Amino acid sequence: MCGIVGYVGNKSAKPILLEGLKKLEYRGYDSAGIALQVDQALDVIKKQGKLEKLEKALHNNKVESKIGIGHTRWATHGKPTDENSHPHYDADYNFAVVHNGIIENYQSIKEELLAEGKVFTSETDTEVIAHLVDKYYKGDLSEAVSRTVKRLEGSFAIAVISKNEEGRIVAVRKDSPLIVGLGQNENFLASDIPAFLNYTDQFYILEDGEMADIRKEEVKIYDYLTEKLVAKEIFEVNWDAEMAEKQGYQHFMLKEIKEQPESVKELFKNKINAEEIDLSQTGIDRSLFTDTHNIQIVACGTAYHSGLVAKYLFEELVEIPVQVDVASEYRYRKPLLDEKTLVIVVSQSGETADTLAALRLAQEKGARVLAFVNVQGSSIAREADHVIYLKAGPEIAVASTKAYTNMVAAFYLVSLQAAVWLNKIDEKRKQAYLKDLIRLPELIRQVISNVETQIKLIAKEYISHKNIFFIGRNLDYTIALEGALKLKEISYLHAEAYPAGELKHGTLALVDEGIPVIAVATRKDLFDKSYSNIKEVKSRGAEILLITWEGYLQENDTVDHLVELPDINDLFAGLLAIIPLQLLSYYTALYLDCDIDQPRNLAKSVTVE
Ligand code: F6R
Repeated sequence: MCGIVGYVGNKSAKPILLEGLKKLEYRGYDSAGIALQVDQALDVIKKQGKLEKLEKALHNNKVESKIGIGHTRWATHGKPTDENSHPHYDADYNFAVVHNGIIENYQSIKEELLAEGKVFTSETDTEVIAHLVDKYYKGDLSEAVSRTVKRLEGSFAIAVISKNEEGRIVAVRKDSPLIVGLGQNENFLASDIPAFLNYTDQFYILEDGEMADIRKEEVKIYDYLTEKLVAKEIFEVNWDAEMAEKQGYQHFMLKEIKEQPESVKELFKNKINAEEIDLSQTGIDRSLFTDTHNIQIVACGTAYHSGLVAKYLFEELVEIPVQVDVASEYRYRKPLLDEKTLVIVVSQSGETADTLAALRLAQEKGARVLAFVNVQGSSIAREADHVIYLKAGPEIAVASTKAYTNMVAAFYLVSLQAAVWLNKIDEKRKQAYLKDLIRLPELIRQVISNVETQIKLIAKEYISHKNIFFIGRNLDYTIALEGALKLKEISYLHAEAYPAGELKHGTLALVDEGIPVIAVATRKDLFDKSYSNIKEVKSRGAEILLITWEGYLQENDTVDHLVELPDINDLFAGLLAIIPLQLLSYYTALYLDCDIDQPRNLAKSVTVE
C-alpha cells in the first residue's frame, strides 16, 4: 500500500529510485512519480498507471540528479490520476512531498490554506503537507517539516525535498513504516527493506515520532516532538537481494508456492528434532501458558485464517479456549481480556494497521502479546512482548502463500509444545506428532509435484465459471476459507467457503447445475459426514472436486475430480490440502490473464485502517 523511496549520493538518482519503486510494486499501487532536485529547482514527473508509464516519461526526461524521492500511490483521497499522484508540491515548486497513510484533519487545514490564497492542484490529503512546509519554511527544512507534522492527525510516513537545500531529504514516520538504508557516501529511504537490498543490508528502522535528516555523508535521527537527537542502532538484515527476485518464474506467487518446503524447513530449523520441540531461541517458555486461561488470536485476511487453524489445534491439543478475531472488528469492540489472556497477533508484514492497533489495545488491557511475524524489525515485531519470526523469507506476491504456510506451521509448533508443557499429551502421542512434523516439508514438496499437472487441467475448466463454492468441516473448513480467498483475490472469480454442515441452512439454494464445489475432507473422523454433504450438492448438479487422502475414496459415483494427499496425522493435513488450492488459484488466474502478483485494488502491506 503506497511505497516511498528516496536516494541521496554520488550516483544518478533516477534509475535507483525507479529500481526501488519496482521492488515496492508488490505493495500495490495505481500511479507513481518521482521528484528530483536539480540546480536549485525541482523536477516532478508522475503518471497514473503502472511503473512502465513513469519509466517511459523518465526516459524522455533528460534531467540528471543525485538526489530525489519517489512514490507508488494506492488511491485513497481522489481517483488515480496524474494530478493526484505523488510527489505533491507547493505553488512555487519549492518543496516536493511523498506521503503514505491518511491525514485525517486535511480538510480543515486545506480550508485554512485556501483562505490564505494557496492554490491546490489535486484532490489528495497529501497536498496540504507541501503547502504547510512552504508556509513554515524559514531556511531549515527539518524545522519546517517538524512544525508541519505537529499539525497533522492520522497516520503518515512522509519524505520532503526542497529546491533550496541541496542534497537533503527530511523524512518522518508516524504509524506508517519507514526505513533508512545506510551506504558509503550514499543513503536511501524506503517504506520497506526490499527496495534497496541490492545496495545495503544496514538499516535504521524509524520509530513513530522520529524524523530522519538524510544527506549523503550522514543520517541524523530526531524525535520530532522534542527535536532531540535519537541514538539509533543499526539493524542488519539477513535476507539477500536474490531472495526477493523472481529467479526465472513467471510470477512471484508461483515461486513462493514452490518455496514452501524450504520455508517450512527454515522455520523448523533448530526448533524441532526427533525428540523435542525447542522454542528457546524464540524466548518463549512454559510460563507463557501455565497462567493462561484463554487465548485470543487477532489478525487480518490470510493471517486470520491461520488463526482459525490454531483455534482447532489449541482446543484439541492444549484444551484452552480460543477466540479468533478479525483485527478491524476486535479493535472496535470491547474484548474481554486480562493478564491471564494470551493474545496472539499474526502478520506477514508486521505493519498491518488494524493488527497493530489490536496489539496495542491488548497490551493496554494488561494481556501479554505474542506475535507471529515474517518481516524482521517491523512494528508488530518490535512492540509485541514475544515474537516468533516466521522465516518465510521475503514474500512479494500480494496473495500470501508461503507466509500463510509458515504461520500455520508455527502454530503446529507452539500448540504442540504448549500441550507438552501443560502435560496434555503423553510421550507416545508427542513422538508421533513430531515424526509427522519432520516429514512435513518433504510431503509438501511431493504434493506440489504430484498435483500441479492435474490442477492445471481443472483450472482450465474453472475459467468459464463465475461462482465457486468451497466446503469443509473443522480444520478443513479453515482451509476452504483460505482457498476461497486465494481464488477471489487473484482470479476475481466469486468464491465462498462454508462449513459443510451449514450448507442446508441457506446456501444450498445457490447450488445449481454445473456449479463447481471444492470439498476438503481430511478429518478422518468426519469424512463420512463431509461425504454426505458432498452428495447433497452433487444431487443438485454440482461438479465436485474433492481433496482427501490417497486411497480413501473406495467407490466413486460422486466426485468429478479427485486430488489425493499423502498420509499424515490429520491435525497437520491442512498444509498439504492448501497446496492444490494455491495452485488452482494461480493457474485459474493465469488462464484468465490476471495480474497475479499485483491483483487490482489490493495492497501487500495494509498500513491504513
Ligand atoms: C491474502 C493476503 C491478505 C493478508 C492481510 C494481512 O492473500 O495476503 O489477506 O493476509 O492483509 O496481512 P499481514 O499478514 O501482513 O498482516
